[in-house]
Amino acid sequence: MDKVAEMPLMDERDGNIVLFYPHIPKSAIRSVEETLSTRWIGQGPKVQKFEEKFEKKYSGGRRAIALGSGTDALHLAYILADIKDNDEVVAPVFTCTATNIPLLYERAKVVFADVQLGTLNIDPAHVRRLVNERTKAIVCVHYGGLPCDMQELSQIAEEWGIPIIEDAAHAIGAVYRGKVIGTISEFTMFSFQAIKHITTGDGGMLIIKDSDLYEKAQKIRWFGIDRSAKQKGIWENDIKEIGYKYQMTDIAAAMGLAAIEEFDQVLALRRELLFAYEKGLRDIPGIRLVGSGYTDREHAAWLCTVIVERRINLQNKLRENRIESNQVHYRNDRYSIFGGRRNDLPNMDSIEDKYLVLPLHTKMTVSDVERICEVIRSGW
Ligand SMILES: Cc1ncc(COP(=O)(O)O)c(C=O)c1O
Repeated sequence: MDKVAEMPLMDERDGNIVLFYPHIPKSAIRSVEETLSTRWIGQGPKVQKFEEKFEKKYSGGRRAIALGSGTDALHLAYILADIKDNDEVVAPVFTCTATNIPLLYERAKVVFADVQLGTLNIDPAHVRRLVNERTKAIVCVHYGGLPCDMQELSQIAEEWGIPIIEDAAHAIGAVYRGKVIGTISEFTMFSFQAIKHITTGDGGMLIIKDSDLYEKAQKIRWFGIDRSAKQKGIWENDIKEIGYKYQMTDIAAAMGLAAIEEFDQVLALRRELLFAYEKGLRDIPGIRLVGSGYTDREHAAWLCTVIVERRINLQNKLRENRIESNQVHYRNDRYSIFGGRRNDLPNMDSIEDKYLVLPLHTKMTVSDVERICEVIRSGW
């Protein structure tokens, strides 16, 4: 077996350590069951309650709006930031395609910025070189859960008078220089997709700083209709914004409300596992953990990514030892929809064949991580 493509997904039984596993609290199952026998299963009171809880923890006084997915949240943020035809948006090259595809819907020009080698986050020095008078926004992703250099990025955004849209799909609970992610920029998006820290099956949240834009977002989430005015049952509810159907359901919110209660324990366990990787991989030649050694920010520990020589050999070795690994994200400029590959991203070029994501989820224990590190230590 010498190609990644030949590696099928592993079965989570039989002692295999799989890459991801959803975390579903028992209370979420009860809560969904209860919700299913109420009047509201679509967007109802539970969505509102979930937003309120979320705001308390992650918004620093900003408003939160719950949506059908993180992708919905990003698309909505791009609409609210008034990104349209041929506007340039400086965005990360290394991320889930969901970060950048909604920009294409708005017919914007995605200008890819390179990664930093230490974190695989967007490189502010390159962002600075790319921003110009046509740039409408900067998008960043906190890769794996480690915050980007927000001070440098915020400074650039401020100088040019443009917003930052943070893709915090991996980064719920992360902290940058004492500030919780969600409390820094104009817009921050979170994802509750199947394998995220908090899952609602699929779901997302957008934190919005500007209160007028928040009002607008509430309408756009639901076709452009003002839902509170609609309840009055009289015709005085014109639609002035083109909206779509981006809302979260109460079934999803029931899961989210249960998960948010357990979140602190989930985050603590994930951080413990990541720390065990850091300890176990230390001093092994030919491999380094991405994003370690930062003392001014706290990791949300969603991914454990390593930079490794002879990646395919390590993947095969791990697999022989019943351990799944994968690349998870691919540089977005490889995809034709973004115009095909460019060759002026030297950091991305240099790690493209070297990064690998190792298992990290709440079904694992520290001894699983120790076993993985021992396998790696024995060579590949
Ligand atoms: C970095 C990043 N951005 C955006 C998304 C999209 O979020 P969702 O799947 O909730 O639409 C994901 C993955 O799911 C992601 O990993």
